[in-house]
Amino acid sequence: MAQLWGGRFTKETDQLVYNFNASISFDQKFYRQDIRGSIAHVTMLASSGILTNDERDEIIAGLNSILKDVENGTLTISSKYEDIHSFVEANLIDRIGDVGKKLHTGRSRNDQVALDMKLYVRDEITELKSLVKNLLTTLHRMMKEHVHTYMPGFTHLQKAQPITLAHHFGAYMEMFKRDYERLCDIYERMNYCPLGSGALAGTTYPLDRELTASLLDFAGPTLNSMDSVADRDYCIELLSALSTIMMHLSRFSEEIIIWNSNEYQFIELDDSYSTGSSIMPQKKNPDIAELVRGKTGRVYGALMSLLTTMKGIPLAYNKDMQEDKELTFDAIDTAKGCLALFTGMISSMTVHKDRMADSAKNGFTNATDAADYLVNHGVPFRDAHGIVGQLVLLCIEKNTSLDALPLSEYKKISPVFEEDIYNAISMKECVEKRNTIGAPGADAINNVIKINEEYLSRLNK
Ligand code: ARG
Repeated sequence: MAQLWGGRFTKETDQLVYNFNASISFDQKFYRQDIRGSIAHVTMLASSGILTNDERDEIIAGLNSILKDVENGTLTISSKYEDIHSFVEANLIDRIGDVGKKLHTGRSRNDQVALDMKLYVRDEITELKSLVKNLLTTLHRMMKEHVHTYMPGFTHLQKAQPITLAHHFGAYMEMFKRDYERLCDIYERMNYCPLGSGALAGTTYPLDRELTASLLDFAGPTLNSMDSVADRDYCIELLSALSTIMMHLSRFSEEIIIWNSNEYQFIELDDSYSTGSSIMPQKKNPDIAELVRGKTGRVYGALMSLLTTMKGIPLAYNKDMQEDKELTFDAIDTAKGCLALFTGMISSMTVHKDRMADSAKNGFTNATDAADYLVNHGVPFRDAHGIVGQLVLLCIEKNTSLDALPLSEYKKISPVFEEDIYNAISMKECVEKRNTIGAPGADAINNVIKINEEYLSRLNK
């Protein structure tokens, strides 16, 4: 047991209590951020005249040597220490002696852990943004490839109207663009430095909090020392954004699973992204898509857990808040894994364009266009809807489609129909006539592709 405190205690901590309380098993994840924060802190202490420049240099050299040794494996972070902060400080004192004891001047573990967590989350947001960007880039490429790949669009999982695969991918493009923006917003809002808030009430040392903030690339210092150590809003916001990302990935996974099924065969997942069965030799299962869908629950769980943990905590710091870490770390790692694998899975899948087009032709996906034909010839829409409904019924009785129904049959139900009805309800026409902003027609889609192209090139800057 190695603790930073103990002066006012007459007994050793019970071992079970120690283990229950310790966080080193998980907060060791941010040793880099902890050391970075300490270096900024002592730099500021020296510039404010609280430490000498020599003391600063000795401490920084000690901290850098700890960092180097942890990175190259010569120093292992051991569970002998209560948390990562104690580990770094104790090792520093071992290495450089008494001057190391000055590191914690004007600081508490409460503002220190608040800082470490923010630095960690900030770094992870940057990585998450780049994974979302890779997914957007992949979707953009696939949209360009599939402007003329016709497929049925569904409502209620029933065939509705023909669309294109570019249009379908384009829907996800919009969702993941919003996800990207959400990550940017969270970063901006959280980017204020809590260090220098002390345990809760600031400190009597003349700390230069502006300097610490700028050394750590924050927009500025936080403005209330109690809020600084009690705020985990940014973790909750991130978990919420990750839940939304997972919800999008999960919906997309569900579609991939359906499209990849024996009944649909719209796509085929690559062998490298599929798994087999131990008993049924014919099976090729979409496990990755299923796992992404399944792991969504875990990320939602983290959001609900942290919201619940935070709801009853009085100001300022309370130990409950230590629970933020495992939840947030796990959700971040899960979402990162899912984003990377999902992107690989869709970019390696084969699209069966013919199956998609055939499916779009069946199921009366052109019925609305037949009604629109009548409207264009002066029939009120409600009447047109009824006429085409009768035609559909007739087709079902005769086991045929609107494309194959003879003109004579059309005319029996409405004399307005002429030979050009067949062109009007051809799948190509049904899709390509729809060119309002956001619609599936090639002109409309190409416009969106251009907008997305500019969007992505702004992200690459
Ligand atoms: N491990 C603690 C946490 O994660 C660090 C802060 C400890 N502060 C304290 N007053 N015990 O929240």
